[in-house]
Formats: sequence, structure tokens, C-alpha cells
Amino acid sequence: MQPTVLAQRAIAPLMPPPRRPAERLIQLGAIDDAALADELQAGLEARPARVSPKFLYDELGSRLFDAITLLDEYYPTRTEAAIFASQRAAIARAVGAGCTLIDLGAGDCRKAESLFAALAPQQYVALDISVDYLAGAVERLAREWPRIDVLGIGLDFSADFALPADVCGARRLFFYPGSSIGNFAPDAAVALLARLRDQAGADGQLLLGVDLLKPVAELEAAYDDALGVTAAFNRNLLRNANRRLGADFRAADWRHLARWNPTQACIDMYLEARYDIEVVWRGRSHFFPLGSRIHTESSHKYCPAELRRLLRGAGWQLDHLWLDADERFALAHARVA
Ligand code: AVI
Repeated sequence: MQPTVLAQRAIAPLMPPPRRPAERLIQLGAIDDAALADELQAGLEARPARVSPKFLYDELGSRLFDAITLLDEYYPTRTEAAIFASQRAAIARAVGAGCTLIDLGAGDCRKAESLFAALAPQQYVALDISVDYLAGAVERLAREWPRIDVLGIGLDFSADFALPADVCGARRLFFYPGSSIGNFAPDAAVALLARLRDQAGADGQLLLGVDLLKPVAELEAAYDDALGVTAAFNRNLLRNANRRLGADFRAADWRHLARWNPTQACIDMYLEARYDIEVVWRGRSHFFPLGSRIHTESSHKYCPAELRRLLRGAGWQLDHLWLDADERFALAHARVA
């Protein structure tokens, strides 16, 4: 056999052929609106009521979250961006060139794109719950970064998942910025990170953005800003419930609360009834007495030692930890243990 043929065979699994635009977007599993409505109903009817933070993110909720990232009080987004900017060369050295960059909850893909020049990935895979959210960004990136094989996949990675064969199996780097891992309770975070480890392959790597413990006043201000944007983001969940369940929640009846929970090391967000409130959904009336709460989100904060333990518990070995000068936020680089 000719050496060139051998070389092509060896490279073939690593270098997929150029992709046509129609092959760039893959939706795995349909979004089940009926199951989501049932899940939301069960959470609202639990006592105490507790719903998944995913119900914060309808179209308006996603825009309100984007506004939150611009607030003076909300330090995580700009602090993480500053770490990316100041540590770009160190991140590139640690990761190495030519990785398969897999972006979890990619949205507009801008955070990952800020690392493209430094990392020179051979493939970029944007994951989000719906491929519709990714279509515009994926097409733009494919145009602007012609040397990178760009792919968008709609899938729910918070549940069990398997990446399709279109995703290169070698040198996978999972990228999970923004401290979104903090919105999972620690045992669920370990389960998610372990699923990533299982999908990563023996040479797999992880870049994880994590918010760190800090004085309570700073944390509570970040989740209860003076302009009331986070309050609107939280109350918007009730509009989402009205749409999904045909409920008649009135946003003004509910107070936004963000409280540090020292036992769980997290900020808990609630909606608290300002009066005795009757709400109807799916043909039945539900009573929320004055002061009763709906838990809408927890945002867990870590210290470096806890973060190392979290990663180790999921089968990852922490390799580098980059912090900003004020030690407010961390970017962790880990390898499959
Ligand atoms: C998306 N996630 C990391 C944000 C956080 O900080 O927990 C969501 C958020 N909730 C209120 N403000 C921001």
C-alpha cells in the first residue's frame, strides 16, 4: 500500500470532508412541549413549590439574561471574559492546537469564538437545546472561519446524551463557560461532568467557567440589581407559566428574592407571594398564602478545593486554574483522569 494512502486513512477519521450548509445543523430529539408543561405544573403544585430554572429562558427570558450580563452588579460575564483575554496564550498552550471544540449551551457562540484564533480548533460543535437557536451563528462562523469545520447540534445535554458520528472523536474539548454548572446542585453537576467525561474519549479535555465564593453582599447584589433586571428575569417565569399552562399569574403579585444559602453554598432565587393569591391553571384553582415562595433557581459557588473535588468525583483531573486578579471567578482546565 502507498504511504500516502496509509496517511489518508490515518487522517480520515480526524478530518471530515468539507460540509455542505444543509449538513451543518442536526436536531437530536424533538422538544416535547407537553412534557415540559407537565413538569412545570408538577413543580408549581409541589409544596414548597420549586420549578427548574430552564423555565426562566423563553424568548424574553433569554433577552433579559443577556441584559443581566451587562449589569454593574453582575460580575461573572465580564470577569470570565477578562480571564479569557488575559490567559489566551496559556489556555492555548494547555489545550494544544487542532482540538474538537464542543460548546455547551452555545447560544450566539461568541464566547467560544473569542478563543478560535488562539486554539485553532479543527472542528467547532455548538450544542444548544434547539438547533434553531444556533442556525444564524453557525452559518456566520462557517463563513468567517472557513478552516474550521462548524457544526450545530440541538440536544438536551442536561439529560443522557450521545454525540453523533459527525463529531470528531479525537481531541475533544468540552467548553462550558459562564458558571452554568452552578445552576446544577453539586450531585447533578457531578453527574453532568461524568457524562461529559464519558463522551470525551481518553484524550478528552474540559474548560469550565466557575463562579467563586465571595462576600454575601456582593453575591446578593449580583442577583438583585438596582435596576430590577434580575427581578424581571425571575418574574418572567410566571409569563412563561401563563403561556405553557394557560395560567393567570400576575407578575406584580410576586416579589423577587435572592438569598445566600450558607448550607448549600448557593444563591437561591424565589418568587414570594405579596398577598394571599389564587391562581388558576388547567381548570383548577391553586392557593398561595402571603409569604409563600416558588423556588426558581440556585446558583452554586465554589472554592478551588471544592471545584477540584467536584471534577475528581466526575473523573476529571484539574490541570490549570486561572483566576482574575480579585479571585472572583475561575476558569478550570481539566483532563480525563
Ligand atoms: C446562567 N447562570 C449561570 C446565571 C447564574 O448566575 O446563575 C443565571 C442567572 N440568574 C440570575 N442572574 C443570572
